[in-house]
Amino acid sequence: MQRQPLVIANWKMNGDRALVVTMADALRDSAAQHAGVSVVVCPPAVLMPAWQQAAFYDNVQLGAQDANENSSGAHTGEHSLALVQEAGASMVLIGHSERRQFYGDNAKRIAAKVSHVLESSPMTAVLCVGESAQEREQQRTFDVIAQQLNEALQNIDSAERLVIAYEPVWAIGTGLTASPEQAQEVHAFIRNWLNEKFGPSGANLQILYGGSVKADNAEQLFAQADIDGGLIGGASLVPEQFVAICDAAQ
Ligand code: G3P
Repeated sequence: MQRQPLVIANWKMNGDRALVVTMADALRDSAAQHAGVSVVVCPPAVLMPAWQQAAFYDNVQLGAQDANENSSGAHTGEHSLALVQEAGASMVLIGHSERRQFYGDNAKRIAAKVSHVLESSPMTAVLCVGESAQEREQQRTFDVIAQQLNEALQNIDSAERLVIAYEPVWAIGTGLTASPEQAQEVHAFIRNWLNEKFGPSGANLQILYGGSVKADNAEQLFAQADIDGGLIGGASLVPEQFVAICDAAQ
């Protein structure tokens, strides 16, 4: 099965208008743009208009780092699907470990957000899953991933417009990248889970790896059979690093 390589930048609460311009310029010139790699940048929401302006003629897509599960209303500081879509987003990250840990994204909210994106918008939902260091040490990785997938996708019957990002929490921002073998083992488990849940269409879903992906380890990770690209944090703030990672996904 040939799935299109997908590389997503998660800027988190970082970056500025200057970086938007330098990153857009750097990606424009990169080989990845012409080799069938799908590149998405998820800046802080307030930088999305600047990105639209800087990369208007490029085929870099925009994504949102989150969106509220309500369509509108008294949710101070939140962003609705309609607003992030109007700002140019074609994808929405859901259930990132930092949102699970610090901002109240529990299983119920994550399931509601996935359903809301898939049922109330044309956008793609990128569901983040991953185990903690303690869970891995306790040999509970597969149980945790299966639970997170079951909770988030219990009401979802179609594999359309869904991407899974496996981000071991112990690898996020730590420099402790999962080995290609460790990552592939979990990606194969996720692939089997998707095939059981969605049947043959489960094979079409892209499964991304995230957690300390850098220019010097991306190629080995992306060479794995069930790793279809990456969800990149720190390295996506450095144009030459992120371009190299996108090129490695070719
Ligand atoms: O969402 C991607 C992010 O969690 C990974 O961060 O800095 O380890 O690449 P980083």
